[in-house]
Amino acid sequence: MLLDLIKSRKSVRKYSSKHIPDEDLRKVLEAGHLAPSWMNVQSWKFILVKSQETKDLLAELSVGQAHVKNADALIVCVADKNAWEEAKITHIKSPALNPALQGDNGILIRTMEQVIYPISYMMLEAESLNIKSCIIGALGNEITGLLPDVSIKAKEKLGLNDDQIISTIITLGYEEENTPTNKVRKDFNDVVFLEKIGNKF
Ligand SMILES: Cc1cc2nc3c(=O)[nH]c(=O)nc-3n(C[C@H](O)[C@H](O)[C@H](O)COP(=O)(O)O)c2cc1C
Repeated sequence: MLLDLIKSRKSVRKYSSKHIPDEDLRKVLEAGHLAPSWMNVQSWKFILVKSQETKDLLAELSVGQAHVKNADALIVCVADKNAWEEAKITHIKSPALNPALQGDNGILIRTMEQVIYPISYMMLEAESLNIKSCIIGALGNEITGLLPDVSIKAKEKLGLNDDQIISTIITLGYEEENTPTNKVRKDFNDVVFLEKIGNKF
């Protein structure tokens, strides 16, 4: 059951030296490729990174997080602001329905929003293959404004243009030692309501 997988998944930050087979990496990426998006615009790119040189650069971009450097592979998730223009949606004249008409801020928010879905899909597909992961959001990019020089270098290395934003990195690897999952979450009734805030489901 998918819920069992969701319950057992946890962020893993220490990895063994065992390599992930390409066929499993492909399955993870396929899960991202098949995610839903607004009007099916798919405003994303996913870059698989296995080279240590690029992992080191991305660890620097991620304010020195060691698990970025030590993961077996990384998936750099890119929010592509160009996608709305490239998509055949110019006939949709309502800004409510067409993010390309929602102004610079709207386009930025909508583009960042889309990429969350493939990230979730990829993380769960990885978990189903016993590949552990951690989502990395603490990084230098156009949103955070952190590490602008490293950001330029990383984007150049990855072949990205000005409209393509590194939104997130997913670290992937096998767990070094099996640790139990400890789900620390707010109480179900503090976040889920029936009809109205305050009414329990
Ligand atoms: C958008 C986002 C950004 C995150 N950024 C980081 C990060 O930069 N570094 C990190 O180690 N974990 C990061 N995490 C992982 C969270 O800390 C983790 O999911 C949370 O503590 C819950 O733990 P769990 O994933 O084990 O259930 C991020 C998670 C999300 C969803």
